[in-house]
Amino acid sequence: MVNGAQSLAGVPVIAIDGPSASGKGTIAAAVAADLRYHYLDSGALYRIVGLVATRAGLNLDQDLEVSSIFLNLKIKFKSSRIWVNAEDVSDAIRGEQAGEAASRVAALPSVRQGLVGLQHGFRQHPGLVADGRDMGSVIFPDARLKIYLTASPEERAKRRYKQLIAKGSSANMTDILQDIQARDFRDSHRSAAPLLQEADAHYIDSTALSIERVVAEVLDLYDQVQRV
Ligand code: DC
Repeated sequence: MVNGAQSLAGVPVIAIDGPSASGKGTIAAAVAADLRYHYLDSGALYRIVGLVATRAGLNLDQDLEVSSIFLNLKIKFKSSRIWVNAEDVSDAIRGEQAGEAASRVAALPSVRQGLVGLQHGFRQHPGLVADGRDMGSVIFPDARLKIYLTASPEERAKRRYKQLIAKGSSANMTDILQDIQARDFRDSHRSAAPLLQEADAHYIDSTALSIERVVAEVLDLYDQVQRV
């Protein structure tokens, strides 16, 4: 058991952190596919907690109340879908409301603590690409490569607007921009694991870069650290 734990601790991790709608998910999934590594979308876990707590009518700012849902929460990732108990929540957690609820419950220390073991469980051979806000700072501080990926708030709002329209949802640019700015503020000003750029993280501003360019840059940086 100790040997197993030790060998998993040696499994390489690429941590990609950054603000909401910075493209982390797209980039992390593409890098993971290229390397044939596992992929952890840690934001999905906070979205699940936000969704379940909202449905249960809990106070989203009450640590003990919200963290009580862990007693009954079985989360399963399978074939790019996410299941909670017997329900496929993949689409439900992507809504703006779940995102807003996620940002609130993510500020609660017991919720963050309750998700640590689950996130560590994704560290499996041959490697892991993990995206979120605290992948490089708290969950995988020994990550072999740390990236801080961002883009201007206006560019991120534009990307989210396009996504929503493509899905057939209605969207308003001014509302989206305000929402992104409010979420940025909450994610980076909370006391528990705030979003920040680690000193050893590589900064990438994707405002004027294509997805392919950013993926290539991350793979190139990873190549460089592998060679050291
Ligand atoms: O990446 P996302 O938009 O799906 O994340 C949803 C919310 O969860 C976001 O407001 C910040 C929070 N989050 C977090 O606090 N820590 C993480 N590792 C991932 C997400």
